[in-house]
Amino acid sequence: MNLRNKIRDRFSDGSLARFVIFMNKVSGNWLNRPLYGKAKFNEDGLVTAHHPTFEDDERFVSAYEKGRATGSWPHGDLRWRAHVLCWAASRGAALDGDFVECGVNRGGSALTVMNYVDFERLGKRFYLLDTYEGLVAEQLSDEERRAGLRGGGYEPCYEAVVRTFAPFGDAVRIIRGAVPSTLGEVDTQRIAFLSIDMNAREPEIAAAECFWDRLVPGAAMVLDDYGWRKHAAQRLAFDEFALKRSVPLLALPTGQGLILKPH
Ligand SMILES: C[S@@+](CC[C@H](N)C(=O)[O-])C[C@H]1O[C@@H](n2cnc3c(N)ncnc32)[C@H](O)[C@@H]1O
Repeated sequence: MNLRNKIRDRFSDGSLARFVIFMNKVSGNWLNRPLYGKAKFNEDGLVTAHHPTFEDDERFVSAYEKGRATGSWPHGDLRWRAHVLCWAASRGAALDGDFVECGVNRGGSALTVMNYVDFERLGKRFYLLDTYEGLVAEQLSDEERRAGLRGGGYEPCYEAVVRTFAPFGDAVRIIRGAVPSTLGEVDTQRIAFLSIDMNAREPEIAAAECFWDRLVPGAAMVLDDYGWRKHAAQRLAFDEFALKRSVPLLALPTGQGLILKPH
């Protein structure tokens, strides 16, 4: 840090700016250590010099630990994604409407956000939709197959999910089966938080189209797979979805996409 200040004092703003532009140009894919220092966060495909504020948030740390204990993320942590979901759920908690997640697996994200917003005190319902046994092969396009997607891919987990959410009683509705055929079972007319994470274009677009009109103004729709390279087909489909409705879609460095329902 001292060295940086010394450099700043020694050189003019113009030369420093030229140096920064040069360093950014030649650093390619590498985090530019001389400019930004050591990475503050390196997890889940995201490396950044910026401060992961959620590490200082005890409520987040404790909620995330509970989500992680479901065994949902054997390949590694994904705290920045969970932070985005908790932010979106906090918006939803303050709105009139229920929560929906399409693509639940063992329920790590859902349990994290429920603990984060203290779901039980909200008097809302949380609808959890999944086959609870992986992707549906027939729903994948040739393009998605070429990108490496396959049917299945997840261990059957329905019983585990029933056990995990049993303490919430009637507030959690576990809907088992393939989206879109199960969408009709979501019997709420007002949705305040929508998380879509099914790793396949067809059911994801069907869910977004089905729920769009029911999202209450200000509610967030979080698209987990939006920026991931395997899921380009979804990204293009959601770009079109957003364009058709004239809503901006925010691409996050976590790989997620975010749309807020306009007022
Ligand atoms: C990446 S996982 C979801 C992860 C989860 N959000 C979490 O918190 O860990 C994708 C899930 O989508 C589900 N899925 C894929 N296609 C589906 C479909 N057509 N209908 C319902 N669930 C589906 C899979 O069974 C799998 O559990």
